[in-house]
Amino acid sequence: MASEQSVIKCESVYKIFGANAKEMLKNANGNVDAKTFQEAGCIVGVNNASFDVSKGELLVIMGLSGSGKSTLLRCISRLTDATSGKIFIDGQDLLSLKNKELIELRRNKMGMVFQSFALLPHKTVLENIAFPLQIKGLKTRDCISKAMDMVKLVGLDGRENYFPRELSGGQQQRVGIARSLAVEPDVWFLDEPFSALDPLIRKEMQDEFLRLQSSLKKTILFVTHDFDEALRLADRIGIMKDGIIEQLDTPANIVLNPATEYVRKFTQEVPREKVLKIEAVMDPITDEQNLSDFKVSKDAIIETVAEKILGQEKPIAVTDSTQQIVGIVKPAKVIHVVFGEGNEDNQ
Ligand SMILES: Nc1ncnc2c1ncn2[C@@H]1O[C@H](COP(=O)(O)OP(=O)(O)OP(=O)(O)O)[C@@H](O)[C@H]1O
Ligand SMILES: [Mg+2]
Repeated sequence: MASEQSVIKCESVYKIFGANAKEMLKNANGNVDAKTFQEAGCIVGVNNASFDVSKGELLVIMGLSGSGKSTLLRCISRLTDATSGKIFIDGQDLLSLKNKELIELRRNKMGMVFQSFALLPHKTVLENIAFPLQIKGLKTRDCISKAMDMVKLVGLDGRENYFPRELSGGQQQRVGIARSLAVEPDVWFLDEPFSALDPLIRKEMQDEFLRLQSSLKKTILFVTHDFDEALRLADRIGIMKDGIIEQLDTPANIVLNPATEYVRKFTQEVPREKVLKIEAVMDPITDEQNLSDFKVSKDAIIETVAEKILGQEKPIAVTDSTQQIVGIVKPAKVIHVVFGEGNEDNQ
């Protein structure tokens, strides 16, 4: 049960800003129209969000500026109180927690990383990372040794005695990440953590982040407005518009089967071969298949193996990380998915 258990659970979460938000929401009976609310002086931040994030899953919330991403994340980390709805963290009803319990939960279970690195300027890298551990009441020696482990984890060894101002943006954000990881949170909230970084460093940080996640397997809610970033990182993506989650699905499904016109518009510019993994075009293995000698990993991005695949006549075996064959991929299917928009009957 542990692996399928939902660590974050939202049930009809609303966040409406404005003096008479609660009353308006009650009268609307769950049917919140952003325009009507705005005319009445209320701003809709989150509109009826329901979803689960399971243990070890990385859910990316994306959408344009003002769509409600940060508000949703703030409701779930209870930096702000939802206007209505239920939120559970590890089965604990978040909204029923008393202040002390909430502080405990934040200190021991939740980690947060924000866009502005929010480092303490007069503390060194090591002191910044050790800070939340000191707050937790750990002995100084333990704080330092744990903080040093984190320094190494994010690849900053040798720089532990630098001050934030002596670091690049990417290095500062590594400190932010290390600091939030120091308390070993189960649930990790990241709100546009890389958006202040230039594209090259940003990509480096994404790689670093994926490397960390592959070993740490945290349950993560990651906010971004960058679709490429979402596609690179996500197990699933939730696309928000005007406070509503329009679709919450795997990257492949978001690109291949957009649920709404808005999502389709969002994804239509995306070159499919750059974002889809082989897994997305894989067919089940059938018995006695006459396969090509060439094998391909299910996690390979199509673009990186397309040329090889298209050079094969026979179907190609698809393997998982343990080299087990988990499916096959046919060259024709790759062509269809990558180029064959609107041609649904050729497979
Ligand atoms: N404290 C607040 N009071 C009133 N309205 C707010 C408040 N915080 C957010 N909002 C409104 O809620 C909506 C969603 O804001 P939010 O910050 O969640 O957007 P976002 O998707 O994170 O955008 P960005 O990508 O710019 O960070 C916006 O219309 C915003 O103006
Ligand atoms: Mg935001």
